[in-house]
Amino acid sequence: METVPKAELHVHLEGTAPPELVQHMATRNGLPFPSRMLGADGRFRYSDFLDFLRTYDLAASVIRTAEDYRDITYEYLCDCGREGAIYVELTASPDHARLVGLTDEEHLNGIAQGIDDARRDCGIEGRILISAVKHFGVEQALRVARHAAERPHPYVVGFSMAGDEATPAAEFAEPFAIAAAAGLGCTVHAGEWAGPESVRSALTLPITRIDHGIRAIEDPELVKELAARELVLDCCPTSNVILGVYDSYEEHPLPRLLDAGVKLTLGSDDPPYFGATIGGEYTVCVERMGLSEDDLRDITRTAIEAAFCDDDLKARLRDSLQNAQHQDRT
Ligand code: ADE
Ligand code: ZN
Repeated sequence: METVPKAELHVHLEGTAPPELVQHMATRNGLPFPSRMLGADGRFRYSDFLDFLRTYDLAASVIRTAEDYRDITYEYLCDCGREGAIYVELTASPDHARLVGLTDEEHLNGIAQGIDDARRDCGIEGRILISAVKHFGVEQALRVARHAAERPHPYVVGFSMAGDEATPAAEFAEPFAIAAAAGLGCTVHAGEWAGPESVRSALTLPITRIDHGIRAIEDPELVKELAARELVLDCCPTSNVILGVYDSYEEHPLPRLLDAGVKLTLGSDDPPYFGATIGGEYTVCVERMGLSEDDLRDITRTAIEAAFCDDDLKARLRDSLQNAQHQDRT
């Protein structure tokens, strides 16, 4: 399992910074450390999903400079590289950067520098999904989509939307239409906290992937539709178990979705908040959900095919997967 190359399509960049790095950035930026976001054990503290989003926003509020974004990106990608990941798509929120006074350019340039440095030092590739935040509203989402469409960046390959799922995704048709028309791949959070109806709403958008989507399992016809349309679910089992969507890995629907022919990939979502890593997600699939190493290879293959990066990079990623399998057999 350690030797299976990994690819991650669902991780929130602001959510990858562990408490120590957040502390370091607060000090560097001359800001008081918002200690109420940590529990007695020194880990991020939250009581439920909405409180998690609040803690996340608080931690993000001390990420202030392009250098901060560079450092978070670099640290995270190199951690993934050490676990055998070959490719990561980082979901980054310009709204969070704007709230602390960074321009979209400073935000993106910091992340791009982190990607370049991680490639040089750790041999891993990264790309960026620009994310709107649902609970910031349609107007903000339009701004984010327009900006991404009007000022293409070579590392920005997709558009996504995170945040509270309460509002139906279909209300965001316009920002998604703008992003898709600009050639960006599109994905959206649905079927995490909200039920299958949120996944149906997501299907009205020009998407090829869904972040989470697992609660589609509650609607057998919807599961058939996802399989038939080859929609890819970017699943985060540890996030779902820790946030309480499911009581245990054994109750998680991932194996049933796979059996039903739904394509899916693995992601860590917000790693230090949930004690997750991309390598850990691959491991729990084998140890707690009955998947085989071949299943894991298929999951990485799905991620490469569903990735929003260009074809040359995809070809290189396919070669890496193939070569690793060849080496395993010799
Ligand atoms: N933003 C960061 N993590 C998220 C999650 N798991 N769901 C929705 N929005 C998020
Ligand atoms: Zn997410």
